[in-house]
Amino acid sequence: MRRLWMIFLLRQSTALRYSIRQSPSFRRGRLPLPVRSSVHMMKHASSDASSEMWAPTGAPGSLERLCSVSLRACQLMNPLILSIYHQLECESDSNAGVVQKLKQDNSAFTIADGLVQRLLVEILYSQISFRDIVGEEEDECHHVNEDTPKGTLADDESWFTVQGLTIPTDLRPSVESTKATIGALAATHFLHSSETDDGIHKCLGYQHLTVFIDPIDGTREFSTGKGEQCSVCIGFADENGKAVAGVIYRPLSQPKPTWVAGAKAERFAACDFGRDKVIHSFDDRSAAQVHTNIDENKKRGSLLTTNGSISPFVESLIEELQTERVKSGGAGNKLMMLLEQSLFGNHDDGGRALYIQDRGVSRWDTCGAEGVLEAFGGRLMKLTTFLPETMDGENAKQTNNYRDTYTYLASQTNLDFIPGVATITKYNCSPSTKDVQGNHKSHDVNEVKPYSNLCGLVAFGKRWNTPEGIKFIEKAIERAARIHLPAFD
Ligand SMILES: *[C@@H]1O[C@H](CO)[C@@H](O)[C@H](O)[C@H]1NC(C)=O
Repeated sequence: MRRLWMIFLLRQSTALRYSIRQSPSFRRGRLPLPVRSSVHMMKHASSDASSEMWAPTGAPGSLERLCSVSLRACQLMNPLILSIYHQLECESDSNAGVVQKLKQDNSAFTIADGLVQRLLVEILYSQISFRDIVGEEEDECHHVNEDTPKGTLADDESWFTVQGLTIPTDLRPSVESTKATIGALAATHFLHSSETDDGIHKCLGYQHLTVFIDPIDGTREFSTGKGEQCSVCIGFADENGKAVAGVIYRPLSQPKPTWVAGAKAERFAACDFGRDKVIHSFDDRSAAQVHTNIDENKKRGSLLTTNGSISPFVESLIEELQTERVKSGGAGNKLMMLLEQSLFGNHDDGGRALYIQDRGVSRWDTCGAEGVLEAFGGRLMKLTTFLPETMDGENAKQTNNYRDTYTYLASQTNLDFIPGVATITKYNCSPSTKDVQGNHKSHDVNEVKPYSNLCGLVAFGKRWNTPEGIKFIEKAIERAARIHLPAFD
């Protein structure tokens, strides 16, 4: 029998913080996680981070500490992200094209993508020995020349260009001050360090973790005035490539930034949706099960989808689930919408939010999401897991190393590739792949990008996470797949 779960609600501003630890005394005396409004942060953008009244939660070396400090870094980057966002709005009026460009696959890149990733990787995590860090902009990101000593003029100037885009002069002071505050944050809170052989102080304890970063998830939304749908996604995976913790931060949600963070193994789960009322608790008794009685014949709950076109499979699925389509941008944002509904929606309806798709996102879009969702009692799995064995390519589930979640490890090839399942597109093909137009199923792992999620995804909150709830989703997916097979493109 599990001991009664304790619920702590530490409130500061309108932040809600839940913790479900078995040992209440463990937390005594620790400071709650403060959340500042973006207005406040803008005013203090150039002040020293160490002078701010802020303290991380979680013991040194814990996942919670890692999430807590990472979240704080997101908050410190907020004024800079906001400035770039406003600059983009002005640009789209004048078509100037100074702070954004198109990548090779036609997707948008802004200096925000490059700067946020560099601030996280090169400043915040510079003290930490991770196993690997994988970022969306990794291939193209401008890296500091190894020979350039830190703090020199050349190093400073290297921060003023990102992927060939020059950072406008008026943004440079903000880049400088954000670098400084995040540097101070890292030095203060990641310094339970020991000296390595080569005399460098490194924060130990996280060597087995791989970090997946999407600096701005929803770049298109970010550069088209829908900033409230974009998010910074940071995920942490263990040595087996299993997502174990994550942070998702929406810098531009209104009226203030919103975030979720969690690590299931430490029973750490926290969020701020900008609400001032606590509705959810982790008490199992209050987490009512989803009603799966489809005979009620009325539309309930929602399936989160892109605002663009959806595949015939997802259209069928909406019919089969008798649910409503809710359109929104960004994977991190959809995940937060799902969590918010599952935590705060009314019992009959809210918990029914689902996010299911047969179209590719990438590991950095889902690693943090999976870590957070599991901490809140939900799951993020491969869609292929829900298909009958005759439909999932070459009977992938029979292979020894098949897993129902994506593998979050650095690698040259796609670790979750199933021959014959994914359709090659310009988004998921590796640069050397020629035949993209053919719309063919790939049987060669070298044709696809290493970090494309080629097996689709199914994400649901705690109330679905019962054998009955999962069976219901599985049956609906199977019926929909018999009408239109998932495209896995
Ligand atoms: C979806 O796209 C339409 C047309 O571009 C736009 O008017 C609408 O605001 C978008 N909705 C969302 C949720 O982004």
